[in-house]
Amino acid sequence: MNTLTRPAWAHPHTDLNGRTALVVGGAGGVGEGVVRALVDAGAAVVAAGRSRSRLDELASRLRSPRLHTTVLDALAEDLDHAVTALAAEHGGFDAVIVSVASWGNQGRKPLLALTDAEWDALLAANQTTVFRLYRALVPHISAGGVLVQLNGLSADLPFPGAGGVALTAAATKSLTRTLAAELAGRGPRIHEVILGVVRTRARQLAGVDDPRWIEGTEVGIHLAELIAGTSPLTGEVLHYLVDKTAGPSGSAP
Ligand SMILES: NC(=O)c1ccc[n+]([C@@H]2O[C@H](COP(=O)([O-])OP(=O)(O)OC[C@H]3O[C@@H](n4cnc5c(N)ncnc54)[C@H](OP(=O)(O)O)[C@@H]3O)[C@@H](O)[C@H]2O)c1
Repeated sequence: MNTLTRPAWAHPHTDLNGRTALVVGGAGGVGEGVVRALVDAGAAVVAAGRSRSRLDELASRLRSPRLHTTVLDALAEDLDHAVTALAAEHGGFDAVIVSVASWGNQGRKPLLALTDAEWDALLAANQTTVFRLYRALVPHISAGGVLVQLNGLSADLPFPGAGGVALTAAATKSLTRTLAAELAGRGPRIHEVILGVVRTRARQLAGVDDPRWIEGTEVGIHLAELIAGTSPLTGEVLHYLVDKTAGPSGSAP
């Protein structure tokens, strides 16, 4: 356990033995780093997404008996039923991480050039997904458990050519903070973690990389400390992890 290289801001050891975390988008670029870090901390991890082949590839890269995978589509009609069955299979969840995103099929486009269909698809993929996941999953998170949404700086900043991504990032930041306020003290802890650029496997395979960017596993190390309750930001809803040297912070960079 705790075999990953740890940044200077992290605790030397985090033990999630006996806890179960669901990572929706666990086979995605950031999700994989999160899954790796939670498994490394000793948690049982369920990685979820729509693509069985991407989940199988993740499992074959990690080769951990603590990793389980499941096909789950946040937009499926039977989402509530699928989540109830999944929670029963794993005895509920101590942590749920929502690491879901989609750039859509329209490519880079100015806002006013979006068609109605492209607009609807972007909202469904990046906003309705998060709402439906929260509604289905919150009842299955244990008392004292944690729900985290991973989001990007476009939640706070204009993003020319990717307006649909930015406005849904802002909307889901609002959604998560509102849920945190509504549940305060009466449900799982809710956290919104806004990230800078992450060194994902897909980017590296495409030859796009920069060692100054955050490692996905560093995101996961922060989340492991939040789940364990040892992070100094445990009592705060909104976190930024933008500067890999400074580590997570409760205020915007
Ligand atoms: N990459 C970065 O540098 C970066 C920077 C800042 C913030 N972030 C944040 O990190 C989060 C994840 O981004 P990423 O870069 O890891 O994206 P990604 O590689 O595209 O991963 C997104 C994941 O979401 C899953 N997903 C998409 N739609 C879904 C649905 N309807 N139901 C279930 N799963 C679904 C995808 O799996 P399937 O396609 O198999 O369903 C995929 O595993 C986002 O919130 C993003 O804002 C990323």
